[in-house]
Amino acid sequence: MMEEIVIKITGTGSALPEKRLTNFDLQEMVETSDEWIRERTGIAERRVAEEGENLASLAAKAAQRALEMAGRSAEEIDMILVATCSPDDMLPCCACQVQGLIGAKNATAFDINAACSGFLFGLQTAYAYLQTGMYKRALVIGAEVLSKLVDWTDRSTCVLFGDGAGAALLECSTGQKQFLGFVQGAIGEKGMVLSCARTRFVQMNGQEVYRFAVKQVPQCIEDVLEKTGLSIQDIDLFVLHQANVRIIEAVAKRLKVDIEKFPMNLSRVGNMSSATIPVLLDELNREGKLETGQKIVLSGFGAGLTYGACVLVW
Ligand code: ACO
Repeated sequence: MMEEIVIKITGTGSALPEKRLTNFDLQEMVETSDEWIRERTGIAERRVAEEGENLASLAAKAAQRALEMAGRSAEEIDMILVATCSPDDMLPCCACQVQGLIGAKNATAFDINAACSGFLFGLQTAYAYLQTGMYKRALVIGAEVLSKLVDWTDRSTCVLFGDGAGAALLECSTGQKQFLGFVQGAIGEKGMVLSCARTRFVQMNGQEVYRFAVKQVPQCIEDVLEKTGLSIQDIDLFVLHQANVRIIEAVAKRLKVDIEKFPMNLSRVGNMSSATIPVLLDELNREGKLETGQKIVLSGFGAGLTYGACVLVW
């Protein structure tokens, strides 16, 4: 009898630009204050790409770190997915640029745009390909250089975002299942509450986005748990898209879960859209905070509007 294909994360990696932009730096640029930004968002500083750094270079660095952790060479990779809403160029896509930069010449490569849910959509896409047996190893990368889509004179948006990239290597394996279930979806009719459409810059109805997030995220976490037969008490960690500390606190409250189970790094890096979840996952992994057997929920939400969640056993 053929053994069931089991898909596992065998390596994680992340990369942040060198330049830190603090709330105090922003005070010099727009009429704002460190206090306002911290209170409303939980962010103290973010990273911003400078000359010599771009989306593809950050994504490639994160990918290489994931490969190093897994002990794999770039040529062993069959597929590269980059989740991004801030590509360097319209063409070629970032995934193809990463393929070239890291020398993954045997990999197919394409981008996915599901904004802040992008990494989760990428994970599910890679999972589906691997599950069929079509490919054996896939790099899923969430990467953003949002600093180029931000109007640096608009205080209501420029304080929120940061640049960075995170990656996970998924491989076909055997043994215990790691991915227990996925949920993903979109609410297209509400798309214009968070857009980069009529102007070149990100525009947002912050309160609508807040309402969407605090309703939809608990809902999709409950849905994915129902699919897997687990209860909220079975989950050790909730790795959420790092948009805003108040959203994460409200989700924890609605789910009646101790906020300690929601790790956060947004005070240091801001909202990096599709990069937030893989960067946080990599930081937790490298700090030894992920223990074998722990049950982890990942959940993203963002422009589209899109949302997604998955349950893993580490
Ligand atoms: N500094 C100082 N004052 C500011 C700033 C700022 N950076 N930005 C806005 N203000 C002012 C506004 O001009 C307004 O002033 P007014 O009352 O004189 O008109 C006042 O602060 C309140 O503005 P609101 O937009 O109503 O502020 P709100 O309390 O809603 O907070 C925020 C804004 C933090 C964005 C909030 O709506 C929120 O948490 N939204 C969730 C969405 C989010 O986090 N999006 C992130 C990206 S999307 C994603 O990742 C899914």
